[in-house]
Amino acid sequence: RQIYILNGPNLNLLGQREPGIYGSDTLETIEQRCRTRVEALGLEIQFRQSNHEGVLVDWIHEAWKTQAVGIILNPGAYGHTSIALHDAIKGVSPLPLVEVHLSNIHAREPFRHKSMIAPAAVGMICGFGSFGYELAIEALAARL
Ligand code: DQA
Repeated sequence: RQIYILNGPNLNLLGQREPGIYGSDTLETIEQRCRTRVEALGLEIQFRQSNHEGVLVDWIHEAWKTQAVGIILNPGAYGHTSIALHDAIKGVSPLPLVEVHLSNIHAREPFRHKSMIAPAAVGMICGFGSFGYELAIEALAARL
């Protein structure tokens, strides 16, 4: 039983990218912590990052085809714009997806306040930094 943890554009830069906003953990560090937590729950993990919207769409489809039990998605900036990601999540319903943002998007620029993902997700976690990924894992696991 697998959980897909998908990361969108610019999240490969974590660690050096605006650390005052996103913290100093790299994506590799986050992956390691997620791996430990997912495996402790007796589940497997696919942890990926892409800067390309269509690749993220393909991975959402793949999660459904391989009968994953859930998806955690940090869509990066595509979260604010992507009807394609919204439709992909709706398209694989009822596969549950939890949206994660490191920063509190509601406390930032107005263009970050809207999420195209949230209406298609079971829930959203934002503002808790990299700990949000672990919260999302717990939230998904509690539903299984
Ligand atoms: C982000 C928030 C987005 O607004 C931004 O474009 C990102 C990162 C976050 O994790 O806080 O790339 O998704």
